[in-house]
Amino acid sequence: MKLFFVSLLICLASCQNLSKKNNIKEESKLSAKFYSFDLDKEIKNCEAQLNQAVPKLTDLTKHPRLIETNETEWKEIPNGRLVWTSGFYPGILWYMYNLSKDEKWKKEAIKRTEVFEDFKTITEHHDIGFMMFPAYGNGYMLGDKKEYKDILLTSAQSLASRYNPNVGTIRSWSNKMHPRWEQHITIIDNMLNLELLFWAAKNGGSKEYYDIAVKHAETTMANHYRPDYTSWHVIEYDSISGKVLNRHTKQGYADDSRWSRGQAWGIYGYTMVYRETGDKKFLDFAVKITDKYLELLPEDYIPHWDFDVPNKEIEERDASAAAVVASGLLELSTLVEDKNKQEQYFDAAMRMLESLSSDAYSGVGKADSFLLHSTGAKSLGHEIDVALIYAEYYYIESLDRLKKMELAN
Ligand code: GLY
Repeated sequence: MKLFFVSLLICLASCQNLSKKNNIKEESKLSAKFYSFDLDKEIKNCEAQLNQAVPKLTDLTKHPRLIETNETEWKEIPNGRLVWTSGFYPGILWYMYNLSKDEKWKKEAIKRTEVFEDFKTITEHHDIGFMMFPAYGNGYMLGDKKEYKDILLTSAQSLASRYNPNVGTIRSWSNKMHPRWEQHITIIDNMLNLELLFWAAKNGGSKEYYDIAVKHAETTMANHYRPDYTSWHVIEYDSISGKVLNRHTKQGYADDSRWSRGQAWGIYGYTMVYRETGDKKFLDFAVKITDKYLELLPEDYIPHWDFDVPNKEIEERDASAAAVVASGLLELSTLVEDKNKQEQYFDAAMRMLESLSSDAYSGVGKADSFLLHSTGAKSLGHEIDVALIYAEYYYIESLDRLKKMELAN
């Protein structure tokens, strides 16, 4: 009998220990420290990469755009009004300032941001959001540069001027960079530009910007997605009737294929639209398109440049899509209510970051970038298996988001 009670006590004690362990395990699922990804070390790695790259980037009229395959240094291109990537480099510097609190990065960020104030009047395409928000938006929010407010508000006004109420979207392209430029063309990438409008509506700009952003997101949800929740790249609308005339691609493998970065823009975009509106239909949609994306991923969580390329063994990956999704998923993991979903998305984001920071994708010790192996536009014959400045931007944004999440835990 005595033996029975002793055994029972031991059993109860070990059950208690087990449940304690389980509790610890449950908490751990939402913390970076339980992954083979050392956040502080990765931040230091990124800072070291910037310390290596920045002294070489002295021409203020240009910005680093890519590092060619097997090269080590950034190729710079002019900060042109038509160049959608102009704002990412200053954006990276703002994030490094936020992560390190080292004033030298703030000084560098200001220097690289303030060179294109004139871009606030861009009305010739939709990319003004991509160009101004990472630079001036981050400067305002992370660098306390309140004087950037008017520049951002003017930028939002310029973007909103491209909204066509007959269609219910912002017109993406209208110069002759596209063969059917005379139609109202909207691309999935445009979802990212909406953040500028939401910000402006909350910060002294017209309330109409909010309505435009919501309507754009609704119209895109209705027309840009296939029944399997994957996205087309380009939609041509009739600018009077608003009818869809044509669906095709510019950067994907085929008109009806699933271009990876297009899926990434959607995930990031709808997550942000839910954050800004609190409207559950956008959250449900973000969940659906995310689940599809995760289902299509290869084992290492880094997509090929298009999910539908044949010969996956030889086709290039796109680390930039993975970086965009990692950042979006970290945010989505904080917005979904279901605990399993929170864990699933956090876990997927961490696996993306683990892969990106691994020797297979990291630029550390090989080039001046954080990451390698992105593909910008293989269908157009360029930026194939290279380092890309926007991959760097969304990667460091992921680190910044993760850091915030860790501090909040
Ligand atoms: N927004 C252009 C691209 O994703 O390549």
